[in-house]
Amino acid sequence: MRKNYVLIPAAGSGSRMGSERPKQYLQLLGKPLIHHTLSVFETHPAIERIFVLLSPDDTYWTTCGSKKVTVLRCGGETRAETVLNGLNAIADSVDEHDWVLVHDAARPCLSRELLDRLLDELANDSVGGLLAVPVADTLKRADKQQRVDRTEPREGLWRAQTPQMFPHGLLRKALQAIGTDAPTDEAQAIEFLGHAPKLVLGDGHNLKVTYPEDLAMAGLILGDMENNND
Ligand code: CTP
Ligand code: MG
Repeated sequence: MRKNYVLIPAAGSGSRMGSERPKQYLQLLGKPLIHHTLSVFETHPAIERIFVLLSPDDTYWTTCGSKKVTVLRCGGETRAETVLNGLNAIADSVDEHDWVLVHDAARPCLSRELLDRLLDELANDSVGGLLAVPVADTLKRADKQQRVDRTEPREGLWRAQTPQMFPHGLLRKALQAIGTDAPTDEAQAIEFLGHAPKLVLGDGHNLKVTYPEDLAMAGLILGDMENNND
C-alpha cells in the first residue's frame, strides 16, 4: 500500500505581502496562518506524516503540538529548491512509489472534501496531478502601453493550485532535471519529463495568501468553514 506524505514549503519571505513577518506566521482567527494550513492534513487518517520545510534561520515557527508534524530546516532560495531539499531529506524514510503532496504554507483554506477528491482521483494514477480551477475571467493580452492588444481564448485554461501530488521518486527526478532556479510548480517539472499530470477540480476557496486583501478573504472563508463544522 502506497503511503501519503505531505511537504509544506514554508521558507518564503512573503515579499508581496509586505508584512513585518513572513505571511505564514501572521495571526488568522487567533492562531498562526500555517497552523490552519496544517490542520486538514493532521486530522486526515490517510496522511502518514507532514514535513514542514523552514528556512534554516527561521525564528517564527511555533509547534502546533501534532505528533504527525516533523520540521526540517532545509529551505532554499526558491520554492522549487525548498521542495527538492525536502524530498532529499526524507528519501531514506519513504519509498520512491509513496505519494508526496506538496502544499503551500500560505494556502490555509483547503477543505477536507477537496483533499479527499485529490486522494481518490489519483489513488490509481501512474503520474499524479494537482488541484486546479478552470479560468473564469475574460483574458486580455496587453501591449507595451498597457492597452488591450487582443482577447485570449480561455477555453482549456486552468489555474494551478496545491496540493500537487506525485510519487516521491518521480518528483525528485523531475525537479533535479528541470533545475530549481526557475519559478516552477511541481507539475511543471513533471511535464518537463514528458508526463501529463491530471487536473483535479479544486475551488476558489483554496486561495493562496499573497497580498494583504487575501488575508481578510482567508479569514472569512475559514470562519465560514468552522461554523459549518459546528
Ligand atoms: N516558499 C519556500 N521557499 C522559498 C520561497 C517560497 O518554501 N524559497 C514557500 C512559501 O513559504 C509559500 C509557498 O512557497 O508557502 C508559495 O510561495 P509564495 O506564495 O510565492 O510565497 P513567498 O515566496 O513567501 O512570497 P513572495 O513571492 O511574495 O515573496
Ligand atoms: Mg514567492
